[in-house]
Parts: sequence; structure tokens; C-alpha cells
Amino acid sequence: MTARIPVGVLGASGYIGQHFVRLLADHPTFDLQLLTSGDKSVGRRLADVWQLAEAPPADFASTVLAPTRAAAVARTGIRLAFGGLPSGVAGPIESDLARRGVAVFSNAADHRLDPGVPLLIPEVNPGHLALLDRRPRGRAPIVTNANCSTTGLVLGLAPVLGLLRPRAVHVSTYQALSGAGYPGVPSLSITDNVVPFIGDEEEKLAIETERIFGRFRAGRVVPTTLPVMAHCARVGVREGHLEAVTVDATARPGRGDLERAWRAFDPLAGLGLPTAPHPPVELRAERDRPQPLRDRWAGSSGRSRGMAAVVGRLRWEPPFLRFFLLSHNAVRGGAGGSVLNAELAFARGYLDALGGRRA
Ligand SMILES: NC(=O)c1ccc[n+]([C@@H]2O[C@H](COP(=O)([O-])OP(=O)(O)OC[C@H]3O[C@@H](n4cnc5c(N)ncnc54)[C@H](OP(=O)(O)O)[C@@H]3O)[C@@H](O)[C@H]2O)c1
Repeated sequence: MTARIPVGVLGASGYIGQHFVRLLADHPTFDLQLLTSGDKSVGRRLADVWQLAEAPPADFASTVLAPTRAAAVARTGIRLAFGGLPSGVAGPIESDLARRGVAVFSNAADHRLDPGVPLLIPEVNPGHLALLDRRPRGRAPIVTNANCSTTGLVLGLAPVLGLLRPRAVHVSTYQALSGAGYPGVPSLSITDNVVPFIGDEEEKLAIETERIFGRFRAGRVVPTTLPVMAHCARVGVREGHLEAVTVDATARPGRGDLERAWRAFDPLAGLGLPTAPHPPVELRAERDRPQPLRDRWAGSSGRSRGMAAVVGRLRWEPPFLRFFLLSHNAVRGGAGGSVLNAELAFARGYLDALGGRRA
């Protein structure tokens, strides 16, 4: 029997936190032992704050939410915390936990651009995990995932980036309400409406994409140069961010080469990571896909449902490649992305000091 790593979820009453609980309830590597929240939900049972359509996992429905204080969290004995705290709140707590030897896999923006913290998408930049080799002795790893719209964009672009050698990428997003957490955007502001502004989102798409596609060299990540010009809008969809992408290419591959590159892309094949979808990007030929309602749960099996990005409506008129892509903001772009990051870190031996045992 393989020993599992004792873990907790910070912000378990939130939208990302609930997806974490759903994904970790019976995880083969991680043993969920602690759920925390902010003052609003502390002391309540998970079932009383649950908002997802499916019921909370039976083993955790009655778990009482604990306060999110680093010293108390570390004292519980968990060795790894999955972070679903708001940006701003998360940063100091996550740093404090890492100093106390608790690894953090976070969704918040605070540490994404720290020089020693991997901003990780396992299929795209697994080599950035090596940033962890240089952390101070005794400090546990902090690993972050990208902003939810960045994750979809980067996954969709990765298979064809080398073929197209873009000079720029233009993207317009149609982002789901749950991207703003719960309760999110007031219903009267979004019903019969589209809101053409999401704070900091366009900037994050630009900066994070260049960092993720950056090269790991001499112990640091050197961002690539790839201008991403984004328009971000909030639409009245519950889950799943749709993005209209235009790549301004300098190379002229055939359309068949592009389609083959997307279909062949599966860099995590054979690693046995439980939450990895195979393939991580699904290519659809229909003229009206992807759609949030029909494609948000793309992914290969139960545990990786919602982890695949879906690309469709290819139009290749050199130098411009246009396509739509969809990814589940709270799963691939949120909790599931963090769980997959932790699975890769575990497989690469970065969590050996935390008590888990690799088979
Ligand atoms: N939603 C998405 O699709 C998405 C995708 C990628 C990344 N993210 C990022 O993931 C994080 C969580 O987002 P979310 O959408 O899940 O937000 P959310 O639904 O608002 O949940 C926030 C969670 O943090 C807790 N919290 C709030 N203030 C706190 C404080 N001062 N101290 C301790 N805990 C506090 C809340 O507890 P209470 O119930 O007590 O308030 C709740 O559990 C954010 O950093 C967000 O940017 C979100």
C-alpha cells in the first residue's frame, strides 16, 4: 500500500475549493484531512456552504471548516495545501506555510511571477519545476497555476506554436460567471448583458503566456517574446471560458500539419498521472463547436473530466490562423490544474520529503 500525503484545502467553501474537495475526496496520492475557509464560513459544515450541482463527497459533507491561519494549519500535520484563497489574501499565508514546511499548490495570482515559483502547466512547461531546486533549505515548494483564461489559451497554442512561429496572438474571451467565484457577478448586471471588462485579466493573459512559454536557463525562467493582445468579457454562462484566437504566423505549415500536431499532442502519456486527460487538447470538426454547454467537461475519464481544452472552427488563411477554444475555468483552469501540478511534482520526486511514497 502506497503512503498518501496528508493534504488540506484552503478556501474550501469557495468555488475552486469545492472543486478541490470533489477531486481530492478519493485521490490515490493525496489524503484530504483539512478544510479551511474565511470568517464567513468558519465553523459551518461543508454541506451547508456547498454550491456545485453534484452533491458534496459523502466523507466530507459534515466536515467543519477551520480557520485559515498558517500556524494552526501547519500544526494539523498536513504536508501540502491546495490553495483556493483570493489573490491578495493568499500570498502571505502561502509564504508562511512554505516556511513552516507545508507545500502549496495555489490558484491565486500572488506568487505566479516570483522568480523561484513555477507557473506550471504540466503538458507545456514541466521543466519549470526545476525552479524548486534552488529554494532555501527547509522551505517547502510553492507551485502556482495560471489564470484560468491563460491556461486554456496556452494549452490550445502549445501543439502548434513551433509550426506557426507567431509574431503575435490576438484573443477575445467570453468568460463564465464562476470565474469570479461565488456569488460572483450580481444577476442584474449580467442577465441580458455582456460586461466587457474583467479586472487585470488582459494583462495576465499577456504576461503569464510569455512566462509559461519561456525557457528555463541557468536556474531561471526567461520569458519568451509573444505579444498577446486580449479583449476579455464576462458572459452569462455558468462554467467554461470560450476564447476566439487569431494567430499572426510567420511560418506557413499545411492545414493537415496543424491538425496532426493537435491530435498527436499528449506529452504526459505513459506517466500515469491520475488527473491528466489524454489527449489534453481535443480537436473538433463541427462548424458550431466548441460550446460551453456541450464541451466544458471534455477529458478522458472520470477523474480527468473537465481537464481537456477543446479547439474548433479552424480557419487557416496565412498568415492568420483563427480558431475557437474552450476550457473549464474552475477545473482545468483552477482546482484540477493544481491537482495535476501536484501529481507531476510527486512523480518527479519533489514531494518525497512530505511523506508520500512513490510506487
Ligand atoms: N473561479 C475560477 O474559475 C478561478 C480559476 C482560476 C483561479 N481562480 C483563483 O482561485 C482563487 C479562489 O477563487 P474562487 O473563485 O474559488 O473564489 P471564492 O468562491 O470567492 O472563494 C474564496 C475562498 O476564500 C475564502 N476567503 C475569503 N477571504 C478570506 C480571508 N480573508 N482569509 C481566509 N479565507 C478567505 C472564502 O471563505 P468564506 O466562505 O469564509 O468567505 C472562500 O473559501 C482566487 O485566487 C481566484 O483568482 C479562480
